[in-house]
Amino acid sequence: MRLQKFLARAGVASRRKCEELIMQGRVRVNGDTVREMGTVVDPACDVVEYDGVVQRLPEAGVTLMLNKPSGYVTAMEDARSRTVAELVPAKEHPGLFPVGRLDRDTTGLLLFTTDGELGNALLHPSRHVEKRYVATIDGVLGAREARALERGVQLEDGITSPARCEVLSVAPDRRTSEVALTIHEGKKRQVRRMFAAVGHEVRRLRRESLGPLCVSGLSEGRWRLLDDAEVALLRACTQR
Ligand code: URA
Repeated sequence: MRLQKFLARAGVASRRKCEELIMQGRVRVNGDTVREMGTVVDPACDVVEYDGVVQRLPEAGVTLMLNKPSGYVTAMEDARSRTVAELVPAKEHPGLFPVGRLDRDTTGLLLFTTDGELGNALLHPSRHVEKRYVATIDGVLGAREARALERGVQLEDGITSPARCEVLSVAPDRRTSEVALTIHEGKKRQVRRMFAAVGHEVRRLRRESLGPLCVSGLSEGRWRLLDDAEVALLRACTQR
């Protein structure tokens, strides 16, 4: 296996970034610094180090989805809060990590994987993996506000990329409404901040889907393993 592929599979970084790390002399094979891009390693017997730390390929990768309930932080450890790690089989699958994060109060689809390369690819902004959220917001979204969300709104860390927005329902008293927003970025608290930018507070937020996967059918607090076909679909959507 080529060295940069090995490093990416081990979860060090994307393949391109790993090529840079190799050129920077930060990678050793069997104790020797290697800068040649064509280097081939045998994962069964070669010892590969990055910044002095031995890298290993994950065992047969495990990828699962959790329907995250409210009240859990997206972290594998936290001294003060309940974490999503309590809800998934973290001990049975060493190296399992959450792909991206949902806020403590956000519910819905959260992926976990032991496959560093897949996790990095899904998170990389250039891969444009779509995420669909359903928000319960204060008030009723006007057509002009919906258009602004779709075209991009100014946040303190930049303008958001084009999105899709659909009003699903409006409460009879018009005090709240449900709006689906599909984005492909992952800025911190992005959906809440996008609605705030057009004057609506988000009361509840749920992620319904990520790329080809949808959380429907899984009750809150439950997880399930993805099958090979689902993992293949996920990989395919990072390669478009
Ligand atoms: N956007 C948010 O505002 N919160 C989340 O948890 C996810 C996306």
